[in-house]
Amino acid sequence: MCGIIGYTGGEEAVPIIIDGLKRLEYRGYDSAGIACQCDAKVEVRRCKGKISELDSQLSDFSGSSSTAIGHTRWATHGKPSEENAHPHRSDGIVIVHNGIIENYIELKQQLEGEGYVFTSETDTEVICHLIKKHSEDKSLTEALMEAIRSVRGAYAIAAMSEKEPGRIVAARKDSPLVAGIGDGECFVASDIPAFLAHTRKVVFMEDGEMAVLSPEGIEFLSLEGKPIQKETVTIDWNAAMAEKGGYRHFMLKEIFEQPRSVADTITGRLLSHRTGEINLEEFGLEDQQLRTLEKVTIVACGTSWHAGLFGKYIIERFARIPVEVDIASEFRYRGPILQDNSLFVSITQSGETADTLAAQRLAQAQGTKTLSICNVVGSTASREADAVFFTRSGPEIGVASTKAFTAQIVALYLFSVALGRAKGALDEDGARDLINDLLTVADLMEQTLLSDPEIKGIAKELHKNKAFLFLGRSLQFPIALEGALKLKEISYIHAEGYAAGEMKHGPIALIDDGYPVVVCAPKDDLYEKVVSNIQEIRSRGGTIILITNESNKAHAAGISDYVITVPDCPTHIMPIITAVPMQLLSYHIGVFLGCDVDQPRNLAKSVTVE
Ligand code: AGP
Repeated sequence: MCGIIGYTGGEEAVPIIIDGLKRLEYRGYDSAGIACQCDAKVEVRRCKGKISELDSQLSDFSGSSSTAIGHTRWATHGKPSEENAHPHRSDGIVIVHNGIIENYIELKQQLEGEGYVFTSETDTEVICHLIKKHSEDKSLTEALMEAIRSVRGAYAIAAMSEKEPGRIVAARKDSPLVAGIGDGECFVASDIPAFLAHTRKVVFMEDGEMAVLSPEGIEFLSLEGKPIQKETVTIDWNAAMAEKGGYRHFMLKEIFEQPRSVADTITGRLLSHRTGEINLEEFGLEDQQLRTLEKVTIVACGTSWHAGLFGKYIIERFARIPVEVDIASEFRYRGPILQDNSLFVSITQSGETADTLAAQRLAQAQGTKTLSICNVVGSTASREADAVFFTRSGPEIGVASTKAFTAQIVALYLFSVALGRAKGALDEDGARDLINDLLTVADLMEQTLLSDPEIKGIAKELHKNKAFLFLGRSLQFPIALEGALKLKEISYIHAEGYAAGEMKHGPIALIDDGYPVVVCAPKDDLYEKVVSNIQEIRSRGGTIILITNESNKAHAAGISDYVITVPDCPTHIMPIITAVPMQLLSYHIGVFLGCDVDQPRNLAKSVTVE
């Protein structure tokens, strides 16, 4: 997720762009850049680091420019560096981009064959050279249309050409882009905060639309060049609300971003949707390494450890090799024995968690190959691991991890299918079916998010309870653990996650009148066993909040006090879906209790010390 802004009008563009980028830093902040139209030339300045670094580099910029585009980056392809920062340039064409170009490798090879020289590791640069290629005999608008026809993937693009001063052309598909209309000036940006200080008149662009900006105004076109009439809306948000996209908290915004973040985590990782073949290069692994693998050790902390536990279940199910999961702070001090032909996997959103880094280094010291499943390009874990798989959740601002967690689960699911194919435990048809199941997740999440108002109502009724139990079996057990962690860390209510089958071994002693128990139990092969656990709890006065699948609603209503349903889907992707109501329930309880859900007391987003 990156931040884009473009301006053209009567004012000095540079300060408007820099200020706009600062208001987009929550979208990405590992490198930044600006391109300014100065007379017949376009000047580009870029740097690694935050916007303030770019701003200081511009202190000697004496030019005058009324048209400019800027970018703040969250790296997905290529480390944070000046060379990989946007804007990218191809002769007189400059562009900024947010999204992921799936077929950039083949396009890059084709363009290099045509003599175009690449200077970055990014996928974005191919768009720039494609526009240049087509602009020899076409306008910037027509050249961008042609370029877009060659690319596959998600994009929000803003482009300028030295041959067309004062003009910015923009286009979007599967990546947000909004236009701002001022008096004799106009804007385009990834998000409203970038220009809210200048205008509240906003046009939300849709997929497949383009915008041509000039000081005279904005023309909206289809990709075929047909004019489109667009509605202008007036935004009444303040700046703080705008950063959260109108959501009350970053945590809620990030919960609702999950369909996008899981889709982005899958994009570009499949060699073929038809065969379900995974692009192992994305994992930094080779088929031969997977074929000889005899054991996987997964190590993480907190929410990431819960994702690791899901990884155990799914890898053993699909690949049929043993998986050991450990909490990093335990692993590093227990004298672990790592056998030959094993793979050590660290899971870490930040890539900077001290215990996880120490564990990863311990594994490397024993000569074990390491893979890091990480959300931050350029982070320590991702740089030190032998191989890395980046979840593409974008910056996770809320301290309580939500979208990173489901992206980690998606990453482990993809890995388990790849490993299953390599080990011969999965045939081509089996792998294809599992991948096709995974490709439905974003839509299933969208449907699940529609239950937010109902979940908020349940949270209101339950928020005064002083303790909760969360139960699940098999693949739903890690989700129960995660639900308990979410609740305790943002509402400070004591909450415990347990394997449902363990109730008789102690926890059932907790149950008395009204004791709330959240149970994750879709109608699968273990459902009847969970029903027994539920009946034991209800017979002792406990209150049941059952998260189950839609077609099981009638039966669930007969055994529960509250039922939250999610769409029917296969057991192996259900955990990605049931995580969402867990997150929403905890979020709303925390809000009803007046807690600071984005920055809970005593917690840090990244635990970089022991
Ligand atoms: C999750 O909600 C917590 N904020 C915390 O448990 C977190 O998952 C843990 O500290 C690990 O962080 P990491 O993924 O950045 O390594």
